[in-house]
Amino acid sequence: MMAVVSRHYAERGTCKMSVETMNVVIVGHVDHGKSTVIGRLLADTGSLPDGKLEQVKATCAKNAKPFEYAFLLDALKDEQAQGITIDSARCFFHTPKRHYIVIDAPGHIEFLKNMVTGAANAEAAAIVIDSKEGVQENSRRHGYLVSMLGIKQVFVLVNKMDLVDYDEKVFDSIVKEYSDFLAELNVKPINFVPISAFNGENIATKSEKTPWYKGLSVIDQFDALQKESLSDKHELPFRFPVQDVYKFTEEGDDRRIFAGTVSTGTVSKGDKVVFLPSGKRTAIRSVERFNATDNQSAASGESVGFTIDLQLYIKPGELMVREDQVQPHTCQRFRANIFWMGHAPLIKNKTYKLKVLTKQIIVKLVDVVNVIDASEINSVQNKQQVDRHDVGECIFETTKPISFDLAADIPDTGRFVVVDNYEISGGGIVLEAYDTDETLIKEQADSRNQSWVDGLVSSQERSKNYQHKPQFVIFTGELLVGKRAIAMELEKLLLENNIKSYYLSSYNLNLGLDNDIQDNLKLEDDRSEHVRRLGELGNIMTKAGLVFLTSFTDADDYELKDIEKLSSVEDIFIVNVGGNNFSDISPDVQLAANPDEHSAAKTIFEKLLPKIK
Ligand code: GTP
Ligand code: MG
Repeated sequence: MMAVVSRHYAERGTCKMSVETMNVVIVGHVDHGKSTVIGRLLADTGSLPDGKLEQVKATCAKNAKPFEYAFLLDALKDEQAQGITIDSARCFFHTPKRHYIVIDAPGHIEFLKNMVTGAANAEAAAIVIDSKEGVQENSRRHGYLVSMLGIKQVFVLVNKMDLVDYDEKVFDSIVKEYSDFLAELNVKPINFVPISAFNGENIATKSEKTPWYKGLSVIDQFDALQKESLSDKHELPFRFPVQDVYKFTEEGDDRRIFAGTVSTGTVSKGDKVVFLPSGKRTAIRSVERFNATDNQSAASGESVGFTIDLQLYIKPGELMVREDQVQPHTCQRFRANIFWMGHAPLIKNKTYKLKVLTKQIIVKLVDVVNVIDASEINSVQNKQQVDRHDVGECIFETTKPISFDLAADIPDTGRFVVVDNYEISGGGIVLEAYDTDETLIKEQADSRNQSWVDGLVSSQERSKNYQHKPQFVIFTGELLVGKRAIAMELEKLLLENNIKSYYLSSYNLNLGLDNDIQDNLKLEDDRSEHVRRLGELGNIMTKAGLVFLTSFTDADDYELKDIEKLSSVEDIFIVNVGGNNFSDISPDVQLAANPDEHSAAKTIFEKLLPKIK
């Protein structure tokens, strides 16, 4: 039975489901009984494979170990892992009404991980509280996380009622205390159910032990949850984070497929689309699916591929949206609420990795607006860092613009996680985007300019003496298109014409650095340091009155704009060789790949001359 159910889910992306399914996340303080509740749900709804319960009980007896319902989850993990990969935190059970995917979230990390992977696209949350221990720190923290994630349907299971003799008073006091807490978060739980997960009271049927309880059993409570209608998500603006880009393998076919899962909205063949943050525009040529003939349209939740009309160079991590709909924000600075669980606190000006949808980027904490202790909802004034288990309202800045929505508009594209030292350390929601040019790099350049100590020779005097103005020339384009050969030729030509210049291979820029820094510079997602060095060096060389030539492989609009902000010249001179990868910038000179370097250098020289004379 189980195998059939799980295979059914594994095929989600490729076939339309006829059975309704619902994602529910189970949270709660450690040992309050989350796994036992899930084990019970599996057993009492007949969702276990035949003989599984008996088998696990027998193994326990053999090893003289008391039976635990939580063991069922472990036993199933091995089984479900065979053949098809299934997220180990997920379990499946079904009622006559629908199928449920329950996510067992033993701790904050799992909870947040599930949230990023989309597993916790939870439509509802069940919070388990031990009646004997009462409301504990994590009962509150998880309540906070649930509210922060915008999970709308929340119910509370007051567990281990057997340990307090099914006392109504104990139950009532927990209901009071926890409802008051949730009320501060604007969360209104739909129900509190007194249960004994271990003994199965109020799980499948109403228990005789709690005649004073008039509400639903747990299973009925699950069935009473409202299905978030798919059409709600379909009606939101179309958002498609590009996960992978595949090239067609047939010869002469240079089409690419953009693969991923539609986050929200719908799109059809012929719709005009924009890739963000690059800003490249085209239209949908076809929708590609495995074993499916429909290539006309796609909607939220579907894993599909798209081909497009123009052959654009798009990197995974871009967000594809429809041109005719509300656009997401594309910027570097934003305000967010973040729940921090890193061992080391979140501190200002340190770099972290931000993951938003399929995009990863370097981020810095610019400012802490407010810090809240999530278990008390007290705001801690004047804190300049966010400690483990605190919630911080913070301002972040990424090294390059990213595209996202505000969580209040589209929750799915308004969430992110922060990685510190290869570990997910925080999860957050975006509250506000700042569409401003005031970025850290700009601030850096401004403060450097303010402190700069000049010599006695002004730049005008220098230019007069050299009989030309300085210029910063950057060669861009893919690897191995002949950038270096042309630049070297140009340097020679400039010298022959009495123009003072210097060519620096950007390879040289990294020499003499220790290996760690060199490795970092090679990382696709940390070219920001390279950009900074190039900009600073360009600033010095042009201040010295030179025509400074260098190359920067695969530079994009944003990187070039940052280099420009750092350098002292007003406009940098861009020579692009080979395919043009810009959305906004138009190069001063565009050359075909691997041209004859002599004539290429001449072409550039002629264009450059009027700018420096
Ligand atoms: P973590 O995953 O470690 O956070 O714990 P959990 O919340 O999943 O708790 P789990 O289900 O493992 O239960 C913890 C202990 O409480 C186990 O020993 C269970 O047998 C026991 N327990 C769970 N439910 C009940 C109950 O209704 N009554 C009693 N008496 N014990 C229970
Ligand atoms: Mg557990």
